[in-house]
Amino acid sequence: MLAKRPAGEPDASCFELRESEIREPRHGELLVRVRYLSVDPYMRGRMRDAESYAEPWELGEPMNGGIVGEVVESGSDAYEVGDLVTGNGTWADYSRLDAGDVSSVNLDVADLPAYLGVLGMPGRTAYFGLLEVGEPKPGETVVVSGAAGAVGSVVGQIAKMNGCRVVGFAGSDEKVAWLTDDLGFDAGINYKRTDEYRDALEDAAPDGVDVYFDNVGGPITDAVFPALNVDARVAVCGQIAHYNDEEVPTGPRKLPQLIAPRVTVQGLLVSDFAARFGKASERLGAWVASGDLRHRETVVDGLENAPDAFLGLFSGENVGKQVVNVSG
Ligand SMILES: NC(=O)c1ccc[n+]([C@@H]2O[C@H](COP(=O)([O-])OP(=O)(O)OC[C@H]3O[C@@H](n4cnc5c(N)ncnc54)[C@H](OP(=O)(O)O)[C@@H]3O)[C@@H](O)[C@H]2O)c1
Repeated sequence: MLAKRPAGEPDASCFELRESEIREPRHGELLVRVRYLSVDPYMRGRMRDAESYAEPWELGEPMNGGIVGEVVESGSDAYEVGDLVTGNGTWADYSRLDAGDVSSVNLDVADLPAYLGVLGMPGRTAYFGLLEVGEPKPGETVVVSGAAGAVGSVVGQIAKMNGCRVVGFAGSDEKVAWLTDDLGFDAGINYKRTDEYRDALEDAAPDGVDVYFDNVGGPITDAVFPALNVDARVAVCGQIAHYNDEEVPTGPRKLPQLIAPRVTVQGLLVSDFAARFGKASERLGAWVASGDLRHRETVVDGLENAPDAFLGLFSGENVGKQVVNVSG
């Protein structure tokens, strides 16, 4: 449960492990044994007692988010005991979910953890964010920050499927090698090896940048702005470099760099596309099944280690999607 609201960077003292009774599922509910749970950067916002697009977690209450698990008791005709489902549940061994809010998991397409990453919310964010906000065209250059994470790794691969040159920023040589050797990115920049992001970008994207898919903000984004081409699109998906800031940062304004190239900058929220999640999941599932879309999950074992897994997102411990194995 959430024990404390952090000021600045959160730490383990913000979380507490507690035992509580499991209530039987009511009509229309499922009791699910949680196999894997998802930790996501947006959850940092839920630790604040402030208005946001996701509801704040309550102090003294269990945290919740994406889970996959097995139905152990069913109060619904739609699901039987033993069915594998994914939905929004609590960080716990068992969670009660409304049957109407879950979807089935097909192990023939991918293993359970993938349903929290490439086949879950992050995959859908990449899909809609790139295709509908970034609108990549063949021959264009797409730059992705946070490229080796859950969203970024999918963005880059879909951009390649659309005939683009793709450059990713990531925080280790191992991550960059994964992007270029396994996922087909044309170039990767380890932003922890150099401060000269602009020079590195000029080498990696000699024709400038047509689509910037921003997962992180901060100095990487500062370096991308001057490289934006005429009519470039910036999809502002995440700003993890700022999530622990206590105030919105101010400083030298970058907006003049957007005038001459007439850049469009657009924030995106995956929930806006909810009406079309089914179609997106179908396409993502088909690409995963055919091997055209690769994915990787970093698994931390044990519910008690969920806080560490979450905190590790801010230091880049994960390659691909970070999940917690609760009882996998
Ligand atoms: N708008 C939406 O609807 C929506 C939906 C889902 C996710 N998001 C956002 O999209 C972004 C990616 O989410 P995700 O789930 O795919 O997470 P993720 O990329 O799997 O994990 C976060 C990654 O961010 C990088 N990072 C952390 N601090 C950084 C910093 N100061 N500067 C640069 N990179 C940093 C780390 O990788 P490195 O090793 O490369 O540093 C880390 O692995 C997040 O900002 C998230 O909030 C938005």
